[in-house]
Formats: sequence, structure tokens, C-alpha cells
Amino acid sequence: MLSYQHAYHAGNAADVQKHALLAWMIAAMADKPKAMTYIETHAGRGLYALDAPEAVKTGEAAGGVERLAARFAPDHPYRRCLDAVRAAHGPSAYPGSPVIAGLLLRVFDRIVLAELHPREHAALSEAMAPFEAEERHEDGFAMARAVCPPTPRRGLLVIDPSYEVKEDYARLPGLIAELARKWPVGVIVLWYPLLTGAAHGPMLAALERAHPGALRHEVRFPPVREGHRMVGSGLFVINPPWRLDEEAARISALFDA
Ligand SMILES: C[S@@+](CC[C@H](N)C(=O)[O-])C[C@H]1O[C@@H](n2cnc3c(N)ncnc32)[C@H](O)[C@@H]1O
Repeated sequence: MLSYQHAYHAGNAADVQKHALLAWMIAAMADKPKAMTYIETHAGRGLYALDAPEAVKTGEAAGGVERLAARFAPDHPYRRCLDAVRAAHGPSAYPGSPVIAGLLLRVFDRIVLAELHPREHAALSEAMAPFEAEERHEDGFAMARAVCPPTPRRGLLVIDPSYEVKEDYARLPGLIAELARKWPVGVIVLWYPLLTGAAHGPMLAALERAHPGALRHEVRFPPVREGHRMVGSGLFVINPPWRLDEEAARISALFDA
């Protein structure tokens, strides 16, 4: 039974780091004329309302998008997506990663999304209606195994689990190694939380051993509540697009400003 709902956490500091780097990567890849595939294993509902009871209850966006959005230049792909959904859905709208991909990709690109929760999947289909996308109601890991290597072959895969299944930490390095073997040119992006107690440590050590050329970017931020274990977030990127390291440094500076 899935209990995690991203509506409680949308727009928090971890979302800003993930969505800003992701938007930059998608925009950089879509700058080339060749078609690409965007794949996401844990898509969520695609579009969030920061005035919804779930978001108001936690107030997590206050330390995230509400604090940080104005620090991005208006032409940054993350800001462009934020402004586009606010213009379309009102000032409290916040784009999830599938909508960011929909906004930045072209009609000839392919988008494949998996979301297991029935209500989130239904909301995702609605949010993605303006875009040409495949929203699959299935396990994201099985979907990635079936779809990779995709057509078009150029592309980016996002793995953004909620880690409510604790075995995810142990099984992700093996799954990612398998996907990277099957799809050596794919950009593979894993999001992970930085936790007190460092539950993520062995997973990262295994990933770094297996993918020495990958880029690892982390930001730290205050816990959203006293005693909350997440004190930062990270992205591990295999086959990072050219100059992602420079953008990652800019995002770090923006968090530290
Ligand atoms: C962190 S949220 C995704 C947020 C989204 N990537 C974004 O940034 O906008 C994780 C989502 O994965 C879904 N989920 C959990 N286990 C899954 C699985 N095995 N396959 C597909 N979706 C799953 C949850 O229902 C939840 O909506």
C-alpha cells in the first residue's frame, strides 16, 4: 500500500534543486534538433497547488520555491516553467517534473511516465493532457526495464522514488547498472535525500564505484520540522549533459545566497 503523497512536499527545497537541474538538462538536450525520449519511473501527479490542504499543512514550500524562485533569472528553464503554470493555473500552481518535461520538450519528442498510485495516476493523465505523453499505471522499475533502450535513443531517465520501500536503497545500484548497460548513451538521473544517519551512504558508494564519470550534486537545507531526518537532497547523473557541472555550481550558490 502506497502512503507517500508528493502533494505534502511539492515545492520544497528538495523539489527546487531537483526541478531546477532537471529543467536545465531537458532544455539543454532539447536545444539540439534531434528527437529525444524522456522517461520517468515515479512521476507523481504532474501539477500541484501550493494552497491545497496537504501543502498548507506542512508549509514546506516556504523554505523552497517561495524562498528561492526569485533567485533564478527569468529566462532559466525552471523559472520559465514556474511562470507558465502560474499563468495557466493561478499563482499557487507548482509544476512537477512531468509537466516541466512537457513544457520544455517538442512535439516530436517522446515522454513515457509511470505512476503506481491510482489517484495520482488519474491526476497525472489530466495534467499531461496538453502534451503528447504515455502515462502508464504500472511499476516504474518494470517500466524502465521494458522501455530502455528507448526510441528515440537520445534521452533522459529520471528515477525519483519516495524511498518508503526501504529496500529501494539496496536495489537501486543494481537496477541502474542494468539500465546503463542496456542504454549506454542515456542520461540517467537518480534523486536521493540526505538523511541524518546517512541511510543513503552505501547506495551512493556503490553508485560511485560503478559509474566513476557521473556527476553528483547535493544541497543542504534546514529540516522542515524539528526532528525531521531530511537535511538536504542530491542528484546522481550518469552521462551528465555538457556543462552540467557549471549549472550545478550556480544552483549551489543560489541555495547558499
Ligand atoms: C517523489 S514522488 C514523484 C514526484 C515527481 N517525480 C516530481 O518531481 O514531480 C514519488 C511518486 O512515486 C509513486 N510511486 C511509488 N512507488 C512507485 C512505483 N514502484 N512505481 C511507480 N510509481 C511509484 C508515488 O505514488 C509518488 O507519486
